[in-house]
Amino acid sequence: MPALSVPLIAPSILSADFARLGEEVRSVDEQGADWIHMDIMDGHFVPNMTFGPVVIQSLRPYSQKKFDLHLMIEPVDFFIEAFVKAGADQISFHIEAGPHAHRSLQIIKSFNVRAGIVLCPSTPAVALSEVLDLVDIILVMTVNPGFGGQKFIESQLPKISQLRQMADATGRDIRIGVDGGVSPETAPLALKAGADVLIAGTSVFGQNNYRNAMNSLRGTK
Ligand code: DX5
Ligand code: ZN
Repeated sequence: MPALSVPLIAPSILSADFARLGEEVRSVDEQGADWIHMDIMDGHFVPNMTFGPVVIQSLRPYSQKKFDLHLMIEPVDFFIEAFVKAGADQISFHIEAGPHAHRSLQIIKSFNVRAGIVLCPSTPAVALSEVLDLVDIILVMTVNPGFGGQKFIESQLPKISQLRQMADATGRDIRIGVDGGVSPETAPLALKAGADVLIAGTSVFGQNNYRNAMNSLRGTK
């Protein structure tokens, strides 16, 4: 199935005020976020750390929107159940995090949550060709994972187009998200290439008016 005609906006709470995380989640929810993107970092797969299931569970009452987890952890499988119990609606993990992406997808889907694969900038689209039948979401990193506020890597655009073709050929409804350096300037490039989910930290939480910031990304302001 083709890309959504109106992109989904997924603010990344990595750039929110961590001392007021609940209010920040409620705020982007009320101002039009489609998903709430949560970056889980373990200080091992990426050189940074964030938070885990306890924080996600404590945020759950602040929004009914989809909690979209981006796991930057290695290993993956052991932690999936805890993230599901904490309230995840969809769980994406890096295909680079181990040799058993197929098994990780099976485990995620066994809990009836949506499953996603994330690709680092150095990983080609074809890396997920043999597991595409289990994938609901593909996230293309347009920065190297680990930190907010980095510059959008334009060389990833052809990969987005390639993944859109691969996803459409399945006939299934697969979302393609772009994560890293997404701004009102770079978002149209990603959308043109075939993405239909815009993940944005700085371009939402770094702005004064979250509604305007999200509409700017959608191209409706
Ligand atoms: C980086 C994270 C991103 C990050 C994006 O590893 O996956 O979700 O929050 O931040 P910006 O939008 O500031 O590049
Ligand atoms: Zn992310």
